[in-house]
Formats: sequence, C-alpha cells, structure tokens
Amino acid sequence: MYDPDDGPHHRREAVSPEAGIDEHQIEGALRPRALDEFVGQERVREQLSLVLDSARRRGRAPDHILMSGGPGLGKTTLAMIIAAELGAPLRITSGPAIERSGDLAAVLSTLQEGEVLFLDEIHRMARPAEEMLYVAMEDFRVDVVVGKGPGATAIPLDIAPFTLVGATTRAGMLPAPLRDRFGFTAHMDFYTPEELERILHRSAGLLGAPLDDDAAREIAGRSRGTPRIANRLLRRVRDYAEVRGGGAMDLENARAALDLYEVDALGLDRLDRAILDVLLHRFRGGPVGLSTLAVSVGEEAETVEVVAEPFLVRSGFLARTPRGRVATPMAWQHMGLTPPPDAAFGAAAAAGGGAPASP
Ligand SMILES: Nc1ncnc2c1ncn2[C@@H]1O[C@H](COP(=O)(O)OP(=O)(O)OP(=O)(O)O)[C@@H](O)[C@H]1O
Ligand SMILES: [Mg+2]
Repeated sequence: MYDPDDGPHHRREAVSPEAGIDEHQIEGALRPRALDEFVGQERVREQLSLVLDSARRRGRAPDHILMSGGPGLGKTTLAMIIAAELGAPLRITSGPAIERSGDLAAVLSTLQEGEVLFLDEIHRMARPAEEMLYVAMEDFRVDVVVGKGPGATAIPLDIAPFTLVGATTRAGMLPAPLRDRFGFTAHMDFYTPEELERILHRSAGLLGAPLDDDAAREIAGRSRGTPRIANRLLRRVRDYAEVRGGGAMDLENARAALDLYEVDALGLDRLDRAILDVLLHRFRGGPVGLSTLAVSVGEEAETVEVVAEPFLVRSGFLARTPRGRVATPMAWQHMGLTPPPDAAFGAAAAAGGGAPASP
C-alpha cells in the first residue's frame, strides 16, 4: 500500500535516521483532522473553506484542487481534511504508482460518487496516464482501449463525478493543460515561527508532554519553517528530556537535544550545511550549477532543489542567478568564514538574489 508519508525526499530528514513505523504512526496521530485545527496558511484555508462551503451548499463535488509546496508543509494533511470536511470517502494514490494508463483507469472507474481522489506527487505520473486524467477531470469519462495495433478501439466509459486533489512539490513541472484543469491551486508556504509554536504546543498536548513556551520558541526557530520538522524535533526533545533531562521539555533540554542532533541555531541541518560548505570551500562561493552542487554533496539534484534550496534562499544564504547558485555574505558569515576579495556575491546581492533559477 502506498504510504502518503513516505515521499522520496523524506529519507534525508537527518534529524531522525531511525524514523520507522512508530514515527510514521505518531506523525499520523499529530495530523489535524479539521480545517479549523489546521494552523497557519490563512489564505489557503480561506480559499479552501469557500470552495468547500459552496460545494456543500450546492450538494455537488467541488472543483479539482491542486496543492503545491515543499515537503512537510501540510499537503497530505489538507487532502485528508478536504475529504473529512466533505464527509466524502478518500482514495489515495501517487504519480509514481501510476506507471501505465491502465493503472489510472482502474482507479478512476471504481470511484464512488463524490469521492476525493488524492494524487500525491502528481508531477511524476506517466504521460499517457496524464492524458487520460485530462478527460476524466473534465468530462468524468475514461476511454478504455480494447485490443492492440490498428484494430484497437477506445470505448468511452462514464465515471462518477469526483474531486481530484493533486499535490506536488514542483508545480513548475506540471504541464499547462493539467494545471489549467484545477479549479484552484493552494500555494503552501513556509510557516512563521509563531505558527510553528502553536503547532508544537498542540502536538505536545497530543503527546501528553507539556512544553515550556521558551522551549517551543527555540524548537520553532530551528524548524526550517516546516511543521513536519517541528514535530520531529519535538519528539527528539521529548526523548532527550525523558532519558537525560529529568523529563521537563524546557529551554535547556531543548537546546541540548537540538545541538545533539546537529540542528543549528538557524535551523540549518546537515544537508543545508553541506551545501554551503561545498559552495564556499570548493567553489569559492559560486556561481555553480545545481547539478554540480548536488553531485558534490552526494544528493540528487531534485533533493537539493526541492528540499534544501528553498529554505536557504528564503533565509538569505543562497541566491539563484542565471549563472548558477551563489553564496551570500550571510552564508560566509554564518559558516565563520571571510569571503575572498573576488567572491561573486556582489553582483548576486545587487540583483536581489531573486533572479530566476538556472537549471
Ligand atoms: N498546518 C498544520 N498544522 C498542524 N500540523 C501540521 C500542519 N501542516 C502539517 N502538519 C504536520 O506536519 C506533518 C507533515 O505534513 P504533511 O504530511 O501533510 O506534509 P506534505 O506537504 O504532504 O509533505 P510531503 O510533500 O513530504 O508529502 C503532519 O503529520 C502534520 O502533523
Ligand atoms: Mg504528503
């Protein structure tokens, strides 16, 4: 069975190398079940509640919904909330699980009326399946191909009206015809430290382990704007407090635990620091292309681009320029280094660091 929490990019969340079944179960238990338990993302919540309210009033399945945003920001959680709020059954699958259009036809033709179909990592779906999905989304129909070669015929088959909820970490990789068939796109952004604090207090309550305010602030500040990381760090702090710290989740134990797991004061983890390290030491601050950078830290380009970079850019450590990735003065400073006089960041910084990414 496909596990919605087991996306390919999770393997490197270095905080918890031993994360196993139990951690997944806890993560599931911490998921908000209703829209008003879902913290932050105010705009998305408002957009969504409008779409859901109006669908309920009309007694119809709502428009298809696309959710885009980095790993751990709450896409799967929201998909489950959408189904729960509609009182509709939920079917979960993912792009990589759909290798042939037949796989998709099997799912689509067995949907119940009003069912929510959650298609995670929708950008990884096979092309022929994608075309089948266009028709299903628009006309609630699949064309089942019978036979092979010149004698093959397509038999149109009506399917029940359903709501597709697609999730992607890379909205830019979706072909326009697919993107256009969604009624709206929920853009999930990093959470503010205050929102993460609320999430942490809520989670601590569910875990039955009281969390001091200053400890919550400390964990939130090191969570890379991401609820999944916040919850994971919380569990490490709880472990530490239980085993070594006399039980209390206070500031002292929080700091000690986070240091032990190599999460630094600004939330940079091992991959973030490896990237900055390579960029500064081997490439004198850049510019360097994404794929070279990825090879140098032993990661796939997609992991670097989706998991690490958005946070590094957002926090002002890294700039994407047309010539490649460039370290900012802040990166040199954070890593305790003095930039060489010919470092390239002058131009990048002047360009605001917001130049479009180069592949
Ligand atoms: N807004 C939120 N409020 C409270 N908890 C949240 C929120 N968003 C996410 N979480 C918590 O973070 C965890 C990760 O969220 P989720 O699995 O929905 O992320 P995702 O966007 O689907 O990530 P991925 O792209 O890796 O699949 C959940 O278990 C949930 O407990
Ligand atoms: Mg998910």
